[in-house]
Amino acid sequence: MIRVAILGSTGSIGRSALEVVRRHPDRFEVVALVANRSADMLTAQVAEFRPAMAVLCDETVEMPTDPGGATSWHRGIEAMLAVVADPDLDVVLNSLVGAAGLRPTLTALEAGHRLALANKESLVAGGPLVRAAAQRGGGEVIPIDSEHSAILQCLQGAGETEVHRITLTASGGPFRGRPAAELAQVKAEAALRHPTWDMGAKITIDSATLANKALEVIEAHVLYGLEYEQIDAVVHPQSVIHSFVEFVDGSVLAQLGFPTMELPILYALNYPDRVDDAALRTYDPVRSSPLTFEEIDHEAFPMFSLGVEAGRRSGCAPAVYNAGNEIAVQAFLEDRIRFPDISEVVRRTMDTIGAHAPRDLDDVIAVDSAARTVAAEEAARCGEAMGTTS
Ligand SMILES: NC(=O)c1ccc[n+]([C@@H]2O[C@H](COP(=O)([O-])OP(=O)(O)OC[C@H]3O[C@@H](n4cnc5c(N)ncnc54)[C@H](OP(=O)(O)O)[C@@H]3O)[C@@H](O)[C@H]2O)c1
Repeated sequence: MIRVAILGSTGSIGRSALEVVRRHPDRFEVVALVANRSADMLTAQVAEFRPAMAVLCDETVEMPTDPGGATSWHRGIEAMLAVVADPDLDVVLNSLVGAAGLRPTLTALEAGHRLALANKESLVAGGPLVRAAAQRGGGEVIPIDSEHSAILQCLQGAGETEVHRITLTASGGPFRGRPAAELAQVKAEAALRHPTWDMGAKITIDSATLANKALEVIEAHVLYGLEYEQIDAVVHPQSVIHSFVEFVDGSVLAQLGFPTMELPILYALNYPDRVDDAALRTYDPVRSSPLTFEEIDHEAFPMFSLGVEAGRRSGCAPAVYNAGNEIAVQAFLEDRIRFPDISEVVRRTMDTIGAHAPRDLDDVIAVDSAARTVAAEEAARCGEAMGTTS
């Protein structure tokens, strides 16, 4: 049995992970479930999967009054970190959203666990720290992001020096093909209608701005040690090819499948062996054709190049980009700023906060916090301008 802790079990990825476990009870055992505030959903999950531990990270949320069963309930971030450090675990699946995922990522790797990682923000905010923690503790990161899972699958059996470049695919989001001038008017409701993936709100907005693809370029740089010149991204609206790897001899491998996160989750939990799963065997090339590809429109979606620039600047610049983006996305979701203001807020935040190399976790947390303060001020400024123009 593979003993799994699921962080963010009440979110989109967490629920997909539980669906995978539900289909393979003879292979995976859920030993801990962690959420932030969704106490009712967590209670229902605990009743079904009977983990040893359940944690609500938000200290202010009410604990279930009569949770019943043998599960031990806890509250707070330290309780989550204690779960993650448990030496009896085999896999920590981190599907928290945002830089809040960094501490459990580091703890899991320092404890020597396999980290099945959906929380790309932890690699972006703390890439060098994540690498160091894995080296120190002996843990390993297996990505859940479909693009990085695709790359990992294509790399099986390949030598380190054999990769020439990789190409990440992007759906293009709900505003693909729309000119920059039209995007000032779009609202969160439209941005949340993703054409191919059903995901949490933050990543859905990131997909609409293409910030998600920039985060994934940085993620690929950290995971696979490739230079930024070796990492491309291309729009592929059908979301069937999840990424390409081009080798030094010109051969290109790709991984395909209809969009579902359950496949990369299953692959990460059981890596490197594949598991028979009839529910996922649905790919049909006739039904999926034609497969098309387009260049990214950098004018309409400046968050992509801004994010890649943050990656190239290195040091704390990716953490600043990420924190600014989290604040801007929340402001857009709450209708306080317009869609193009997201990149404005992030650009101004990056111009304000320096990009020194992070010394340690406290340093990253301080930079993240400073960036959030600047981004909130910039969002307020954009909001005032919106008030005067609307
Ligand atoms: N969804 C996808 O298909 C997909 C694909 C690839 C990668 N990812 C990545 O996977 C991660 C999760 O995405 P998602 O779409 O599953 O997000 P989501 O649906 O918003 O779920 C987020 C989960 O994290 C918990 N959470 C939020 N803030 C927290 C905090 N401060 N401390 C502790 N727990 C917190 C939430 O708990 P509550 O419910 O209690 O608030 C929830 O369980 C993101 O990094 C995203 O980029 C997602």
